[in-house]
Formats: sequence, C-alpha cells, structure tokens
Amino acid sequence: MSRQAPEGKNLVKRHGLVVLIEHWAIAISGLALILTGLFELPIARRYFITEIPGLRWSGDYIFSLWLHYAFSVVFVGASLFHVVYHGLMGHRAILPKRGDLRESWEVIKSFFGKGEEPPFAKYLPEQRLAYAGIALIIAGLIASGLVKTWKNLFAPDMDLTLVLWATWAHNLFFVLFVLAFVAHMAAILIKPNRPMIRAILTGWIRRDYAEHRHPLWIAELAGRNDHPAREQEAPTRERPPDGEAGGENPQGLS
Ligand code: HEM
Ligand code: HEM
Repeated sequence: MSRQAPEGKNLVKRHGLVVLIEHWAIAISGLALILTGLFELPIARRYFITEIPGLRWSGDYIFSLWLHYAFSVVFVGASLFHVVYHGLMGHRAILPKRGDLRESWEVIKSFFGKGEEPPFAKYLPEQRLAYAGIALIIAGLIASGLVKTWKNLFAPDMDLTLVLWATWAHNLFFVLFVLAFVAHMAAILIKPNRPMIRAILTGWIRRDYAEHRHPLWIAELAGRNDHPAREQEAPTRERPPDGEAGGENPQGLS
C-alpha cells in the first residue's frame, strides 16, 4: 500500500494493508460465525428466516454447520496470523498499559462534557482494554470450538463432561462476542471517534484530527519522543521498535 497520501488530501497513514485485511477477515468471518452458529440451533424455521429469499439453507443444520466450519478456518487462520505476525514484528501499541482504566474513565467523562481528554498515543486507552477483552473472547471461542469440532469429526465418544464444558464455554463466549460487537459499534458511533471509520476502511486518517487527538503517536511517527505528556507516563513504558508507532515509519506522514 502506498505511503503517499492521495493527491491533495491532508492525511496520515494509520494502518497498512495487512492490518486492514486482518481486521476485515476477523470481522466478516466473526459475523458469519454468529449467524451460522445461530442457524445450527432450530431457530431459522421457527422465526421464518427460511422464508427470506436466498436464506432457505438457514433451516438446514448440516449445511449451516459446514458453513460454520468454513468461516472458522478464516477466523482461526486470521487470528493466528495476527498473533504470530505482530508478535514477531514486536508491535505493542495496542496492548493495555498501566493506568489505562483510570485514563479510560477520564475519556468517558469528557464525552459528557466533564474535563478534557488527555493526549493519546496511537490507540485510546479504552481501545487497548477493548482489544484485550475481545482477544480473550476470541481465544475462548476458538479453544471451545476446536474441542467441539474434534468431537464431531474424530471422537464421537469424547468424555461427556468435556463436551458439556466446551458447549457451555462456546455459548458463553458467543454471548460475550455479540455484546463486544455491539459495544464496538456504539464506540465508533460516538462523534469524536467517527474519523477512525475512514482509517479502518482506507488505512488513512485526517491529519488535523490525528495531530489534535493523537499527538503522542504523531510525535513518534516524526521520530520525536519529546511530547510533554510523555514525561507523565509510566516509567516502564518503552519506545516501540521502528515501524510500530503506526505500523509505519516517519515516511508514513504525508
Ligand atoms: C465482529 C466484528 C469485529 C471485530 C471482532 C472487530 C475488532 C476490532 C478490534 C480488535 C479493533 C482494535 C481495538 C479496538 O478499537 O477495539 C478494531 C478497531 C476498529 N474497528 Fe472493528 N471489529 C469488528 C467489526 C467492525 C465493523 C463492522 C466496523 C465498522 C466500520 C469496525 C470498525 C472499527 C474501527 C473504526 C476501528 C478503529 C480503528 C483505528 O483505531 O484506527 N469494526 N476492531
Ligand atoms: C465468532 C466466533 C464464533 C461464534 C459466534 C460461534 C457461535 C456458535 C453458536 C451460536 C453455536 C451453536 C450452539 C452450540 O452448539 O454451542 C456454535 C456451535 C459450534 N461451533 Fe461455533 N462459533 C464461533 C467460532 C467457532 C470456531 C472458531 C469453531 C471451530 C474451531 C467453532 C465450532 C463450532 C462447533 C463444532 C459447533 C457445534 C456444532 C454441533 O455439534 O451442533 N465455532 N457456534
């Protein structure tokens, strides 16, 4: 993906192609897994979803199950790639940091007109916390889903207690995943967060917005580490390795 901003646009590159593909592979397969998982339960016929043109298959348990397997290949593959790729590249910008809970509270209060929000690095503190939460939920869905798949395909006589635990865990994480998705949509609809939608669709974000709201990130991109707010940060905080600040280097600025 080019690092030059589109002609005449005052934008900063926020995500590379790899991150965009990862986000949308996990998002689209995750949403498809919610639907196909629900269609494995006998609800499609009961609620006349089978009557909707193009959705007759939703009443077919075996077909829905095979679709669930197919989307889980994408979901598991993209999740594993995400962990290995960013782990090897040493990317840490989205991992929670000390003080994130307190800072998130300040940000939420500022949405209601109470006080100013602090200057941000690449991600908001609540984005880093949300990331940890969704990562945990996804890990739970994958682990319990794999046990259920193993039972279905290779071990029909699997210990019943294990199957029950896996099923309850899968159902619980399914509910948490849906709640996390609703919270994610609510977060991006909040007005100050809306410019990030462009970033997750195109990889680019408005420069004035980034400079105003994410000055610590912009300073890192420019190779500076001298923003006054940096001094108030936890002393353990390390400067991310090159390329991490935005998955980009200073040339990412345009
Ligand atoms: C099940 C579906 C989805 C999952 C699992 C998911 C997951 C994530 C995660 C883990 C992040 C990074 C941390 C965070 O901000 O919480 C993120 C960022 C984001 N997502 Fe999603 N997402 C999903 C669907 C969507 C959809 C449908 C949109 C619609 C536009 C969307 C828009 C965004 C935006 C705007 C960001 C912030 C990007 C930035 O910081 O530049 N996501 N998503
Ligand atoms: C976003 C991710 C996922 C969601 C929302 C989801 C949702 C569901 C739901 C609602 C069910 C039906 C209730 C049940 O039998 O427990 C289900 C069943 C199942 N899921 Fe998932 N699932 C996800 C990911 C996965 C993954 C990654 C795998 C495999 C690695 C998997 C494998 C299965 C299996 C084998 C069943 C049981 C089918 C049966 O024996 O009736 N799921 N899922």
